[in-house]
Parts: sequence; structure tokens; C-alpha cells
Amino acid sequence: YNIVFVTAEAAPYSKTGGLGDVCGSLPIALATHGHRVMVLSPRYLNRTLDKNYASAKDLGKRIRVSCFGGEQEVAFFHEYRAGVDWVFVDHPSYKRPGSLYGDENGTFGDNQFRYTLLCHAACEAPLVLPLGGYTYGENCLFLVNDWHAGLVPILLAAKYRPHGVYKDARSILVIHNLAHQGVEPAITYGNLGLPPQWYGALEWVFPNWARKHALDRGETVNILKGAIVTTDRILTVSQGYAWEITTAEGGQGLNELLSCRESVLDGITNGIDVDVWNPASDKHIPFNYSVDDLSGKHLCKAALQKDLGLSVRPDCPLIGFIGRLDYQKGTDIILSAMPELLQDDVQFIMLGSGDPATEQWMRWAESAYRDKFRGWIGFNEPISHHITAGCDIILMPSRFEPCGLNQLYAMRYGSVPVVHCTGGLRDTVETFNPFADEDGAGTGWTFSPLSKESMLAALRTAIKTYREHKSSWEGLMKRGMLKDFSWERAAVQYEQIMEWAVLDPPYAGR
Ligand code: ADP
Ligand code: GLC
Repeated sequence: YNIVFVTAEAAPYSKTGGLGDVCGSLPIALATHGHRVMVLSPRYLNRTLDKNYASAKDLGKRIRVSCFGGEQEVAFFHEYRAGVDWVFVDHPSYKRPGSLYGDENGTFGDNQFRYTLLCHAACEAPLVLPLGGYTYGENCLFLVNDWHAGLVPILLAAKYRPHGVYKDARSILVIHNLAHQGVEPAITYGNLGLPPQWYGALEWVFPNWARKHALDRGETVNILKGAIVTTDRILTVSQGYAWEITTAEGGQGLNELLSCRESVLDGITNGIDVDVWNPASDKHIPFNYSVDDLSGKHLCKAALQKDLGLSVRPDCPLIGFIGRLDYQKGTDIILSAMPELLQDDVQFIMLGSGDPATEQWMRWAESAYRDKFRGWIGFNEPISHHITAGCDIILMPSRFEPCGLNQLYAMRYGSVPVVHCTGGLRDTVETFNPFADEDGAGTGWTFSPLSKESMLAALRTAIKTYREHKSSWEGLMKRGMLKDFSWERAAVQYEQIMEWAVLDPPYAGR
């Protein structure tokens, strides 16, 4: 089976978060295992993104997609890199200023249209694009990432299989974030290019949950829900999250449906790109270092303090946060804890963009806590590397976290994660136990429940350990740095799930 990733983001071409990282590196890991792998994503063009697509060439193939009451022409651009066919779907709706999904006025109003196009194009690409001389053909395994790609399994079931196309193809829905489901008013169903009789199909597939489910009483179109119903298997990006989404607390309204599909639901913890994130060779950090010689890390910290205009003090704990300023990330908890936290002798650097009120607060906090707090508003990869290397502690009070990559990057760079005990954070960070073994065990701290008090308690324990138990701290750093977070482990697990998907007959959602 040839593997076809469908995704809204793939680094280094396009990225707003971890989805981009995963779809930029997992395909390469699978190609290294000998698979033929294509990644389909939009060709986003604007002043900042243009250069990322410079080496992708027009394949000269045009197709017409019927949706949204008309016919849309799309083109395909292609680059073969690191053993993977990177294919970019070209259409005017991907060419606009701003980020991938919106601009300063908010989320684009036509994202349903933009990703409907992506999915139709993705289903055609394996059939029509002669890559390296021959097409991928019908025997494909689609790895469908998040709601943006969710129409793919629905199209396979509703549009292709009834006509004898993609009879043996399979799809695996990879849920990176259940919070985004691609929900639009029911009236938009007619735009999706699906047969009319499929509108009600969800009702009779799982009669019990379908009527109960608040998002769909004939009131909305929910792309992710349709994908959950029609895909062959479902994966999330950690095992903890795979369980959480079947509960009322974590299921975002889809828990009953997901419970119905528990037999095909698994979790695989993400890996990281250990070449891009390698303290021994990282070009974005001023000094390189490794577990055998941590002197470069201390120099990185001093350089970061200097760059930020904070006093250069090796003994002062430097705490960092990197991420989208979003309810998911628990930034409100950070804000509420800051006055108390900053009474202590610590420094704090926060990098992120998103919620305008939080950005506003970061500007205010810079002047209110001049000698202790820095806020960097924006998306900046080099700085994110420098912060990961230069900090002592990386804080992640996420409300929910399907996997989380920053804690993995932190550990690889010898920065100690302090995280809310949820999802992938719980699966990857082990709380420090000073009494285990000779030098203790664990790689950081997890706290629960998610509250200002418990976060502060965990931070204070971390800070005390940092100040008073140097050898324990070094043990924490080194155990984190020695963990294997490479894609190799995850790639083998993906192969297993793909094998199961192929062994089962294709699931048409009925
Ligand atoms: P999510 O995908 O939910 O945003 P992850 O932890 O999986 O969370 O991945 C976030 C990725 O985005 C990481 O690679 C992180 O370094 C990056 N990132 C987030 N915000 C920024 C920013 N402001 N500047 C640079 N990189 C960022
Ligand atoms: C999502 C999740 C994050 C995960 C990433 C990559 O954006 O929020 O936890 O690490 O996808 O899978």
C-alpha cells in the first residue's frame, strides 16, 4: 500500500503548531522504512510563505473539482525531498495574507470551501499524478489529519467506492485536536460535493448516539464526525488522549460516537524531528551542547538573559512558555499565577501569539515586571529554539493536550518540564521521585488538578530542587536528554496500525 497523508500543515512549508511538525517528519520516517509516501497540503502563498515553496514545480496537471455550486480548477506542485513526494494543491483561495487559517480579522469565513477543495484534490491525486513516472494508484492508505482532511474518508465511502474506485483503499483518521471539528450550518451540506442521500447517513449508521449528539440534529454539518463514522481506523497522538476523548470531559461532544468505535481507536505518541531539534547541532542556538557536556547550555541561558535584557544570573531560575495563546494552553492560569510567582526570585519568558487579551497582558506585564518578565508576541522558530535551550524550566499548564511537542523538545534540550497531568503530557513527563534509584527518577513534574495553586506548588518544588539540589537537577536534565523521542519508535507503531487497517475489510460506514 502506498501512503497518502492529507493535511492542512506540513513543516517546513506550512506550520502553525504541532500538526505541521508531525506531518513534516512522520512521512519521512515512514519513507525511510521503505514505504512510498505522498503528502498533500495546500500551496499557501503570501509574502512570508512564498519562499517555502520555491523548489516545488508545477506538475502541469489540472483537475476540476465539483463543489460549492460550481467547478473549481486546481493545479498541483511537487517536490521530491527526503524520500517523500510533497504535493501542494494550488488554488487562488490559498493565496492571501495572514496565517494559514485567518488574519487579523479572525478565522477566514471560507475554510470549509478551502479544505473541501483540498480533500477532493487529495482523492484525485493518487489516480492522476504520475510521480517519478507512475501514479500511486488505487491501493492507497490515506492518513487523514484532523477535520481539514476529514472529507477524504467520507468521499471514499460516498463518492468513490459506490463506483468501484478505491475499492481496496483504506483510511486512518489521525486526531491531533478534537476541539476543531469543521462545524458549519447544515445548509452547507450541498456544497461539499457529496451525494444527497449521504446527508442522513450518519443517523442510521449509529442510531443511538446520532440522535443524542447535540452538534447534529440536522442543524449542522460536522466534518470530523463524518470522518469518525466512515474511516477504517482512528488514531490519536497519545494513548492518554485516545482514552480521554471517549469520556464526557474530553470528548468535545463526540465521546459517545468515539466510544462506539473504540475497537478501532488507538493512540501513538508523537515523535520529534531529532535533527531539527538537536542541541548538539542546532543552528538557531548560540552554543551547542550535549548530555556529556552541558557547558553550552549554561552559555545559552546567559545569552538568552542578555538578549532579553534580563540580568545575566546563572543561579536565577529561568522559566519559559512557548505556544499558541489559546484556552487549550491554559495561559489564563499562567496570567493569574504571575503576581505570586514573580514575588520569588525568578525570571519568566513567554513566546506566543493568539488571543489578543493575552497579548495585551504580555505587553503590560513587561512594563509591570521589568526585571523579571518578558513577553515575545509572534511566531518565531529561531527564538523558540533559543528559549527551549536557554530556560531551566518549560511550563505547560494545558487544559487538554493531545500530545504536546514542547515538553519533548524541552527534555531533549535539558530543560525540565512542569506540566498539567493530561493527555500526552501525562504520557511523556514522569514526575521526579528523589527516593528512587541512586539519583532519583523522573524527568519533570506533572500537576493536577489544573489550578493556580497546584501549578504554583509544582513550580515551587521545581524551583527549590533547582536551587538546593544541584545533583538532583542534573539528574532530571540528563534523564530527559537521554529519552528516545525519535520517530523511529512511532513509525513502527504506525506500521502496525496500518497493517491492521489493511487486514480488515474496508469500512464503508454502514
Ligand atoms: P499545538 O500543536 O497544540 O500548538 P504542540 O506542542 O504540539 O502544540 O506544538 C506546537 C509547535 O508550535 C511547537 O513546534 C512549538 O515550538 C511551535 N510554536 C507554537 N507557538 C510558537 C511561536 N509563537 N513561535 C514559534 N513556534 C511556536
Ligand atoms: C495538536 C495538539 C498537540 C499535538 C499536535 C501534533 O495541535 O494540540 O497536542 O502535539 O497536534 O499532533
